[in-house]
Amino acid sequence: MRILLAGGAGYIGSHTAVELILAGHDVVIVDNYSNSSPEAVERIEEVSGRSVVAYEADVRDHDAVCSIMREYPVDCVVHFAGLKAVGESVRKPVEYYRNNIDTTLTLLECMRERGVHNIVFSSSATVYGEENPYPYVETMPRGRCSNPYGWTKFMMEQILEDAARADAELSVVLLRYFNPIGAHPSGRMGEDPQGIPNNLMPYVAQVAVGRRDHLTIFGNDYPTPDGTCRRDYIHVMDLAAGHVKAVEYTAAHKGTEIFNLGTGTPCSVLEIVRAFEENSGVPVKYEFGPRRDGDLAEFWADADKARDELGWTAARTLSDMCRDSWNWQRQNPKGYES
Ligand code: NAD
Ligand code: UD1
Repeated sequence: MRILLAGGAGYIGSHTAVELILAGHDVVIVDNYSNSSPEAVERIEEVSGRSVVAYEADVRDHDAVCSIMREYPVDCVVHFAGLKAVGESVRKPVEYYRNNIDTTLTLLECMRERGVHNIVFSSSATVYGEENPYPYVETMPRGRCSNPYGWTKFMMEQILEDAARADAELSVVLLRYFNPIGAHPSGRMGEDPQGIPNNLMPYVAQVAVGRRDHLTIFGNDYPTPDGTCRRDYIHVMDLAAGHVKAVEYTAAHKGTEIFNLGTGTPCSVLEIVRAFEENSGVPVKYEFGPRRDGDLAEFWADADKARDELGWTAARTLSDMCRDSWNWQRQNPKGYES
């Protein structure tokens, strides 16, 4: 199959590109590099051993996306192209709604014009909201989100479901990611956040490499075994493999299907710090701080549906995640700029 990767130069898109290529598919990347760089595309080529078609374009640009689809007819679209920083979304809600909703609408319009019927969407566990008990199961209703970023995911899921309801030809797969961490085992590709990282693993890795003085652990008085929050961390290479399954699934199904992509096992912030220290051999200085607004004490995935219907399970361990994150950070202390 040939697959258009909207936002394919980003963290998850770049790892997915490699896995799709190695599974025998062709990819076409469209990215405006607002949160990535062309260097990521070069690394995809280096790691996969294949040259890749990549366009610098805004996925909201209808003419640009349609003309790319005309030049390169595709069988499926994977939609990664979104703004994703929770705190920034609270400060800039209009930009978040504009970017994330418009990219989705433009892709759907261009797909209709070009006769493309299959789309895989990067959603998030955040759509379960605060009300649902964990582990989260796909049959649970979407909950109330705590920030505009989460609401964009909520709304984009709704838009895609409505589109599939109206068009019997459409196949929509909503992938709800839990907490992706890790990097390509080669150390050539990984997560390259701009500025101060918001997420735990890049922060830990930057402390270890000496870019930050210490990690602040947001709260140690949660009702969890060690008092720190627990999440379902998943290796980005497992996530990438899940996309290969999802893309292939769209070719044989119609309508909307939702899949959690997680390991099904929770892990605390302190467990992450300890596992990182063990696997890197580098101490990670930390101190406890107050809770972060909007954080839930714990949640994790019920990942059975992806296992049963996609034939996918997360195979990599927490040690793999920490080792590969460190390998990437150590080799690229300043990310793709290094
Ligand atoms: P990322 O920022 O690394 O990748 C997103 C890519 O989309 C970037 O390369 C960016 O330049 C591009 N982009 C954004 N807006 C665009 C536009 N209008 N036109 C063209 N390109 C555009 O993020 P990621 O971590 O790879 O996440 C990919 C997707 O998965 C996002 O939609 C994100 O919300 C979702 N997601 C991520 C996580 C996570 O923890 N990383 C968790 C759940 C869901
Ligand atoms: C966050 C977002 C979520 C998004 C996900 C992936 C919030 C409330 N949720 O999830 O919508 O889908 O990122 O992008 O922001 N932590 C620290 N110190 C740090 C950073 C994090 O202690 O410097 C803790 C957090 O309190 C949390 C855990 O580490 O318990 C994981 O944090 P993070 O990586 O930001 O992911 P989530 O908060 O789960």
